[in-house]
Amino acid sequence: MTFLCRLSDLEPTGARGVVLADGRDIIVVRSDDGIRAFTNACPHQGVPLETFPDRFLDADRKLIVCSAHGARFRPADGLCTAGPCRGKHLPGIPIVIVDGAIEMADAADA
Ligand code: FES
Repeated sequence: MTFLCRLSDLEPTGARGVVLADGRDIIVVRSDDGIRAFTNACPHQGVPLETFPDRFLDADRKLIVCSAHGARFRPADGLCTAGPCRGKHLPGIPIVIVDGAIEMADAADA
């Protein structure tokens, strides 16, 4: 498993960006549906979603927003519900939570 962040790291913004040593860019987000992780690459043009660090959510903290052209994504499953890539998904990343640590479940853990 690969450590992403602690649950307590999600408190200030509801979401956090994590760049791994191998360059993978990941969003960890907390919502009413639980904790999820996605690849930080908008399905529209493949760019990272945020302009400012850890600012991934809309004002209501209900949807993930792409700062480039305003696409909106459901935190539950990464589905784009509005914007130029409507109907596409942010790629989901399997995670596990152990003792308050959010970790990426690597293929070897399956
Ligand atoms: S790059 Fe995300 S909406 Fe265009």
